[in-house]
Amino acid sequence: MTVPASAADNIILILDFGSQVTQLIARRVREAHVYCEIVPFHAAAAAIARFRPKGIILSGGPASVTEATAPALAPEVLAAGIPVLGICYGQQAMVQALGGRVAAGTTREFGRAEIEVVQPCALFDGVWVLHQSASVWMSHGDRVEALPDGFSVVARSQGAPFAFVADEARHFYGVQFHPEVVHTPDGRALIENFVLKVCAAQPVWSMASFRETKLAEIRAQVGSGQVICGLSGGVDSAVAAVLIHEAIGDQLTCVFVDHGLMRLGEAEQVVTLFRDHFHIRLVHVDASAQFLSGLAGVSDPEAKRKFIGKTFIEVFDAEAHKVGGAKFLAQGTLYPDVIESVSFTGGPSVTIKSHHNVGGLPERMNMALVEPLRELFKDEVRALGRELGLPDVFVGRHPFPGPGLAIRIPGEVTKEACDTLRQADAIYLEEIRNAGLYDEIWQAFAVLLPVRTVGVMGDGRTYDKVCALRAVTSVDGMTADIYPFESAFLARVATRIVNEIKGINRVVYDYTSKPPGTIEWE
Ligand code: XMP
Repeated sequence: MTVPASAADNIILILDFGSQVTQLIARRVREAHVYCEIVPFHAAAAAIARFRPKGIILSGGPASVTEATAPALAPEVLAAGIPVLGICYGQQAMVQALGGRVAAGTTREFGRAEIEVVQPCALFDGVWVLHQSASVWMSHGDRVEALPDGFSVVARSQGAPFAFVADEARHFYGVQFHPEVVHTPDGRALIENFVLKVCAAQPVWSMASFRETKLAEIRAQVGSGQVICGLSGGVDSAVAAVLIHEAIGDQLTCVFVDHGLMRLGEAEQVVTLFRDHFHIRLVHVDASAQFLSGLAGVSDPEAKRKFIGKTFIEVFDAEAHKVGGAKFLAQGTLYPDVIESVSFTGGPSVTIKSHHNVGGLPERMNMALVEPLRELFKDEVRALGRELGLPDVFVGRHPFPGPGLAIRIPGEVTKEACDTLRQADAIYLEEIRNAGLYDEIWQAFAVLLPVRTVGVMGDGRTYDKVCALRAVTSVDGMTADIYPFESAFLARVATRIVNEIKGINRVVYDYTSKPPGTIEWE
């Protein structure tokens, strides 16, 4: 992976021991404007040699250092002569490796705890003072029982006498709690102190510098070659396209496959923005008839997903060949997709849904990949999008699934059902925007159910479909909570949908979190 030149000498390495929240450590480091890389614990030695990091952070993890099979801390980490911060499992692994003692816990300590500062520490600078108490978030089973030489306790809680330990001479720090989660209010400042003051990393990671570095890299990679980029209407492919266009202009051709399963006005917006505003060469393929005829009679969710994924690739491939001569395929791949996470669950995971994306295209088309966003998290992509002049309403959009409205219409997907759903969805989102709630919500959308119920309008009986509304908050789409609208808001949306849309006479709100539900209905 390439690293922006100015940031290349200021890297923090994060070793992943399988924590659910390792990515949050990376977020906190990058918020301090320092570039970081996450690598699995077993790749530590190679990563230290390659990145020459300014400091290392050891993540938490589900294993116990007291077991023989526990993921080991490579000796290079503590021998590199650079600062190390161990979090939870990371603290225990470091303490054990340096000759201290860790005991298997008989009970787990989970949740909020108060710790008291008992000694000064470089990480407390401007954050905590001696004898103050502070809130932290604990989640651990094992605990440190004896410290290695050179270490002392700098903060402790009633339940955790070794909550925060430090060896200032060697710049080794260990915390039993989790500074990376928002429930540790001062965690971000502690991590910032570690990164900027103890490791002396320069805060040179910014979207402006990233943009400049990437422009040069794209030009170097592509030379005078042609690049094809699939636009989906989503933020990632849009930002990738605008960035690549800035680098190589008309050597880029974007292909927008309109499968007829977009939201109201969406296809037109994509065409206007990219062709008219950014002057990007754009092939707009209206393949809606092909998609909808292929979906006729298909009601199984997986069959729908597979058909759409396969057809998308076929249409894209055919259009790319028509453009001709392209040796490169651009994709909006993000960092969370490329991190090789450490999994301790073992065994093959169950396929809940076959996700539709352009995976499969590169092999089929025998093209080299241009993936300028591989180092970025989603919110960084948004920041880059703004930096590149993409409008806020576009950059801040809720995620939209590749198979589009097809997975929001349980049962058979027809043009009529899509049109009805588009209108309901537009009313719902308009009300959400008017109420100023759009940015608080991860994703909100309407679903059109294949169920008909009886209603009464005026003096007449109706027998129409049901519309379900979904809105969730989430950090990454992996888990989600329902958004707690006020009932007056839901009543207003329901009234508008039933009054304004022919074919819907009942509206319900989906109160299911994820898990056990998924965000999309199919
Ligand atoms: P689920 O329904 O699995 O969705 O809880 C989690 C997140 O993923 C989005 N999603 C998709 N995104 N292609 C995509 O690009 C897909 O096939 C797909 N299916 C679900 C979903 O909208 C939510 O944000």
